[in-house]
This record gives sequence, structure tokens and C-alpha cells, in this order.
Amino acid sequence: MAVLFDTKFNVVDFDINPARIKELKQGFDRTKKVEKEKLLNCQIEFTDNPEKLKEAKVIIITVPTPVDKHNIPDLRPIISATKTVGKYMKKGSIVVYESTVYPGLTEEECVPILQQESGLKWKEDFNVGYSPERVNPGDKNHTIDKIIKVVAGDTPEITEFLAQLYGSVITAGIHRAPNIKTAEAAKVIENTQRDLNIALMNELSIIFNKMGIDTKEVLEAAGTKWNF
Ligand SMILES: NC(=O)c1ccc[n+]([C@@H]2O[C@H](COP(=O)([O-])OP(=O)(O)OC[C@H]3O[C@@H](n4cnc5c(N)ncnc54)[C@H](O)[C@@H]3O)[C@@H](O)[C@H]2O)c1
Repeated sequence: MAVLFDTKFNVVDFDINPARIKELKQGFDRTKKVEKEKLLNCQIEFTDNPEKLKEAKVIIITVPTPVDKHNIPDLRPIISATKTVGKYMKKGSIVVYESTVYPGLTEEECVPILQQESGLKWKEDFNVGYSPERVNPGDKNHTIDKIIKVVAGDTPEITEFLAQLYGSVITAGIHRAPNIKTAEAAKVIENTQRDLNIALMNELSIIFNKMGIDTKEVLEAAGTKWNF
């Protein structure tokens, strides 16, 4: 997303991991999503200095949101990133979350931290938004610019601002969700629906293998029905 925004705006890319910043400066993306040439030719300022966040009008947070061994969300990275942003954001900032989160996290958990750390008032001095990251890892056809971007702000004006901002670089188009919770819920069920389908097909393929039936051939036949 940073590389895409770099084509239109001044971008600062902050990460707490200095090794990651060093790699990116050298043109190496360990997630294998951005080619070396693009990283070396971009104007992005890669930094591990949080003071640089002061320069940003819009701050986008995309830190990991894993679950622990009991399937409880591990909110440590998102809370720590929110504290850092709260410390350095300024009046008029818009903080956008792209991490996968449960419905309510942005407004119920992150906003109070932003207010506390910054001393600023939500919706008076700063705003928040949510726009889920929907990249399919390993998929070279559906690159980030070709995936419709869902955006939601904490007010209709912020939703429109984000639609214009993301719309200036995403060619696939923008979907304006009615509120932040709806956008958060949409993202979570996209993953759930995909994972359930994969799990179901894996179970079926075990059964079909035992029955001497080729799963791919079953799917080809079943897939001819419009709603399969
Ligand atoms: N990777 C994908 O293709 C993909 C697709 C859809 C959704 N997502 C979601 O996007 C979010 C990020 O995933 P990712 O794969 O980009 O993670 P990642 O592990 O590739 O990158 C996260 C970066 O955040 C940095 N970081 C961690 N804590 C930080 C902090 N407090 N301050 C600043 N930087 C910090 C890490 O050093 C790391 O470089 C997750 O919520 C994930 O569910 C990712």
C-alpha cells in the first residue's frame, strides 16, 4: 500500500524493527510482495524513528493481529502501535487501521488509547477509519490495486475523504461501508468463509480418496451449477 501511495503522495514507512527497515532500504521485501526495483526506485522514507509520524496527516496502521494458542486475539502489536501513534499524531490527524480485527476493536479499544496518549479529542481533534487489507498472499493476478478497497470512516465526511484518498491509487474501485464495525465484520467473514470452504474441501477429498474418486473431477462437475 505504501508503494502504491508513493506514486501520488509523500510516504513515510515506519516499523519498530530496524532490521526490516534496513532490508526495505536495500530493496528487499521479506513478504515477497514488492519487487526490488520498485522499492529501490520509490521515494518512500523508511524509518524506525517514530518522531517521523509527526509529519503525517493520515496514519495507516497495518501491524500483525495473530491469535494465541487458545485462539484469543493477541492485541499487543496493535495496542503498542496505537500508543506510538497516539504519542506522535497531531491535531487533524486521521488514523486508519488495515489490520484484521474483530468488530468494535477500532472504536472501542484503539480510540480510547489514541485519546489518552495524544490528549486530543476524538471527532473534534482527530478521526479514525478502517480499510481492511485484502491481499491474497502468493496471488500475482490480484495485486493490491486490482482489489476493490472497502473503506469506512467515523463520520460520513471521513468515509468520503478515505474513498477519494484510496480511490486515487486503487483502480478496482472503492466500496464505502456504512460504518467502521461493518467494515471490520466484512473482513473477518471473508477469511472465515474462505477457511471454511478450504477445510470442507479438504475433508471431502479425504473421503473421495478413500472411495477412489478424483476430487478435482468432482469439483469440475459440481462447479457447472451457477451457485456452487
Ligand atoms: N499479509 C497479507 O497478505 C494480509 C492479507 C490480508 C490481511 N492482512 C492483515 O494485515 C495485518 C498485517 O499483516 P502483515 O502480513 O502485513 O504482517 P507482517 O508481519 O508482514 O508485517 C507487520 C510489520 O509490523 C511491524 N510491527 C509490529 N509491531 C509494530 C509496532 N508496534 N509498531 C510498528 N510496527 C510494528 C513488524 O515489525 C512487521 O514488519 C494483519 O492484521 C493481517 O491479518 C494481511
